[in-house]
Amino acid sequence: MQIDIGPWQIRNYRAGDEEALARNADNRNVSRNMRDAFPYPYRLSDAREWIEFATSQSPQTNFAIAADGEVIGGIGLVLQSDVNRRSAEIGYWLGEPHWGQGIATAALRAMTEWAFAEFDLVRIYAEVFEWNPASGRVLEKAGYQLEGRLRQSITKEDQTIDALLYATIRE
Ligand SMILES: CC(C)(COP(=O)(O)OP(=O)(O)OC[C@H]1O[C@@H](n2cnc3c(N)ncnc32)[C@H](O)[C@@H]1OP(=O)(O)O)[C@@H](O)C(=O)NCCC(=O)NCCS
Repeated sequence: MQIDIGPWQIRNYRAGDEEALARNADNRNVSRNMRDAFPYPYRLSDAREWIEFATSQSPQTNFAIAADGEVIGGIGLVLQSDVNRRSAEIGYWLGEPHWGQGIATAALRAMTEWAFAEFDLVRIYAEVFEWNPASGRVLEKAGYQLEGRLRQSITKEDQTIDALLYATIRE
């Protein structure tokens, strides 16, 4: 899979991405907004394991965001099951030097369109930690709507906080 979004790409992870992935991911300002499965510190071995996981998934739902061939972030879906089977959760992150250039918004728009075309989904949602207004803004710019506040649903690094639930529905 490869989607071109201006000068950036969403593409499959591949061997050789490990160093750039670890360098961009190894940042508490990134990890504190992600689920605990995204480690801090983020070592080369974590990058190796993630790339092995993402490239062996079937179907593949986790991709690199890249610039000039180099991984600068990630974006992925978690397809839900049972009665939630037409829903997917979306997650994304960028290395801090790449923030503030509209990259996450462009990636989220493109990935949302791709996901609705690729899978039998009607709903894509994200849970944003209450201390992360930039991510809420990215979701709004990409057409997601705020549906509610999941009170005290997140415990991250010893703090228990609210999450904001954003979603978009297939048109
Ligand atoms: C959240 C994140 C993906 C944003 O990426 P980005 O490429 O910088 O986002 P964009 O440039 O597309 O848009 C950011 C928007 O947030 C706004 N913003 C930034 N900091 C903000 C803040 N503290 N309060 C409110 N808005 C803020 C920007 O002004 C911009 O909106 P604008 O275009 O209306 O000015 C990036 O900061 C990141 O990777 N954070 C850590 C991981 C993470 O939070 N992942 C999402 C988990 S739900």
